[in-house]
Amino acid sequence: MTATYQETYDAWQANPHAFWHSAAQDIDWINPPNKVFDPESGVYGRWFPDASCNTCFNCVDRHVERGRPGQAAIIYDSPITGSKRTISYSELKDEVSSLGAVLQERGVCKGDRVIIYMPMVPEAIFAMLACARIGAIHSVVFGGFAANELSIRINDAKPKAIISASCGIEPNRIIAYKPLLDEAIELAAHKPDTCVILQREQLSADIIPDRDIDYRTVVDEAMASGKTSECVEVKATDPLYILYTSGTTGEPKGVLRDNGGHMVALSWSMKAIYAMAPGDVFWAASDVGWVVGHSYIAYGPLLHGCTTILYEGKPVGTPDAGAFWRVIEEHKVSVLFTAPTAFRAIKKEDPAGEFIERYDLSSLKGLYLAGERADPDTIQWAEDKLKVPVIDHWWQTETGWAIASSPVGLETMKIKKGSSSVPMPGYDVRVLDDEGHRVGNGTLGNIVIKLPLPPSCLPSLWHADDRFRHAYLDEFPGYYKTSDAGYLDEDGYLFIMARTDDIINVAGHRLSTGGMEEAVSNHPDVAECAVIGVHDDLKGQLPLGFLILNSGITRDVSEIEREVVKLVRKTIGPVAAFKNVVTVKRLPKTRSGKILRGIMQKIADGQDYKMPATIEDPLILDEISEVLGKTAAG
Ligand code: COA
Ligand code: AMP
Repeated sequence: MTATYQETYDAWQANPHAFWHSAAQDIDWINPPNKVFDPESGVYGRWFPDASCNTCFNCVDRHVERGRPGQAAIIYDSPITGSKRTISYSELKDEVSSLGAVLQERGVCKGDRVIIYMPMVPEAIFAMLACARIGAIHSVVFGGFAANELSIRINDAKPKAIISASCGIEPNRIIAYKPLLDEAIELAAHKPDTCVILQREQLSADIIPDRDIDYRTVVDEAMASGKTSECVEVKATDPLYILYTSGTTGEPKGVLRDNGGHMVALSWSMKAIYAMAPGDVFWAASDVGWVVGHSYIAYGPLLHGCTTILYEGKPVGTPDAGAFWRVIEEHKVSVLFTAPTAFRAIKKEDPAGEFIERYDLSSLKGLYLAGERADPDTIQWAEDKLKVPVIDHWWQTETGWAIASSPVGLETMKIKKGSSSVPMPGYDVRVLDDEGHRVGNGTLGNIVIKLPLPPSCLPSLWHADDRFRHAYLDEFPGYYKTSDAGYLDEDGYLFIMARTDDIINVAGHRLSTGGMEEAVSNHPDVAECAVIGVHDDLKGQLPLGFLILNSGITRDVSEIEREVVKLVRKTIGPVAAFKNVVTVKRLPKTRSGKILRGIMQKIADGQDYKMPATIEDPLILDEISEVLGKTAAG
C-alpha cells in the first residue's frame, strides 16, 4: 500500500463505491458484485447486494488450493492446560468440512442458527467455520455467561444445534459448561435438536441420549467415512453470524454480521490497519466470545492467510507475567492485539518489565489496544518496555472492525496518547450536541457516524429492525449513534471518553448495569436498586450496587448483600464481576423520579459534581457519600 492515510481517506470520500469495489478484489466471490451498495434495501442500505460467496472458502479452502496447505492456520497455546497444538490450513479444511457434514446430517441447513458455547479451544473456531461453510448462522456465547443469559440467547436465536464443551478452565477452577448448557435449555422455550459436545479430559460431561453427540466421535467417524461438506453459496448480504451484546436493558441485542461486506472490510483492515502480510502471525489475546475474537482471532487473520494464535490463558498467573512474551517469542508473533486491562494486569505484577527482558520479542511490530479507553500511563509503559508502536484503536461489536485507528499499513502516523487516532475510510465521524448540532474541535459531544455505515457494520439487529432504528438511528437522523461520548481535536484525532448509556466496561468486557439492576431487583428483600460503574485501577470499571431493602426487614443486611452478589453471578455470570454492594436508605433522584446514577458515580470515584437543580432532596447525596466513606465537593 503506497497511499498515505489522508490520500486514502480522501479517495474513499470522493468515491466510496469505487473504494469498496477495489477492496472487494481481495475476495474470492462466487458471483462478483456488480453493484457495490444499494441504498434502497435494508434499514439504511446493503453492501454488495447482488454478489454471492462463502466465507469459509475464503478463510480456508483458497489457502489450501493456493500454496498454504502446510502453513499453520491456528496455533493453540494453552498454558492453563499445559497443551499446544498447531493446525495447518489443510488440516483445518478437513476438520471443518467434516464438522459441516455432521451438522448437515443433523438437519442444519443454510440460514439455520447454531449456538457455540465454548472455551478457548480450536474446536470453537472449527465450529464457526463449519457454520460459515454450510451457510448456517452461528452465534457464539461467551463462556463466562450463566445459564440464564445463554437461555435468553437460545430463545432469541432459536438454534437448531448447539456446539459446546464439557468444561472451561479458569486459573482457580474448572467450570462445568454442560450443566450450564442443560440448565439453559431447560429454561428456554426453544429447544435445539442436537448438542455437539466436546469432551475435555479435565472433566467429562453426561451425554443426554437422542439429543447430545460427542464431538470427537462424530467428526472422526465423518472423516473415516469420507463425509465432507461443500462450501454453500450464500448471498453477500446473508448473515454470517449473530453476536449478542449488552443493550440498555437486560435483553441483549443480536448484532448481525453479513458475509460479503464483513470479508471485504476485514481483509482491508489486515493490510491497512495491522500491516500484516499473508504468512505472518497475528495474535488477538481476547476470547472467541467477543467481537475481537470473531474478527481477529478467527476471521481476519484466516481471510488474509495468516497464522492466528488461540491462547487459553491469562496475561498473569498462567504461570506468570511473562506469559505474553513467551508466546510472542515462541510463535514469532508480528502483531499483538489485546485490551488495556491485560497490560495493566502485567504492569501491576511486573512494573519494571523484568519478564520482558527474558524473551526475544524481535518479531513484534506493533501492539494494538481496544475494548476500553487506553489510559496514557499504560500506553507509555508498553511503549517504553516493548519498544514498538502502541496503537489504541476504537471499535464496537456493532462495527466489527476499527472506526478509528492509526493505519500502520498505510502510514505510521503520529500517536497522541489518549486518542484512538483518526477515522478509518468508510467512517464519517461527527461529534454532535444533544440537539444534533455539530460541536467545535475539542468540545465533548455525542459521537455519531454518518450513514451509511461501511461494510462489516451491522445492517440491523437479528429480527429486530425497529429496535435497531430505535437504539441507533432515531435520535440523530441520518447518523448512527455510537453511544460513546468524546471529541475531535484540530488534527482530526478522536478522543473517546465515556459511554452515554448505562453500559460499563469491566476488564474490556461490555456489560449493562441495567441488566444487573434487573437481576438485583429479583431478590425478594430488595425494594429498589441502582448499579453504577466505578473506577478500578486494574479492570477500568467495576460494578457497584446500591440496595434499598423492603421495610420491616429484620434479617442481617450483610447476609442479604451476599445473596444479591450470588444472585447476579447466577443470573448473568461471573463475567459481571459484581462483588460490591452497599445498602442505603434512599437513592438520589430528580423530582420526576429519575435516579441520579451519574452523580453517584462521581461520588464513588471521588470526583467533583454539580448539584442538579432538579434534585428531589440534596441531603441524600450526603448519605450516599457517608455510606461510601467518601467526601465529594458539592
Ligand atoms: N468462562 C467462565 N468464567 C470466566 C470466563 C470464561 N470464559 N472468563 C472469565 N471468567 C470469570 C473469571 O474466572 C472471573 O471469575 P471470579 O469472579 O471467580 O474470579 C470472572 O469471570 C471475571 O473475569 P475477568 O473480569 O476477566 O477477571 P479475571 O480476574 O479472570 O481476569 C484480566 C482479569 C484483566 C486478566 C482478564 O480480564 C483479561 O485478560 N482481559 C483482557 C483480554 C480480554 O479478554 N479482552 C476482551 C476484549 S478485547
Ligand atoms: P464492545 O462492543 O464490547 O467491543 O465494546 C465497545 C465499547 O467499548 C465502545 O463503544 C467503547 O465504549 C469501548 N471502547 C472500545 N474500544 C475503545 C477505545 N479504543 N477507546 C475507548 N473506548 C473503547
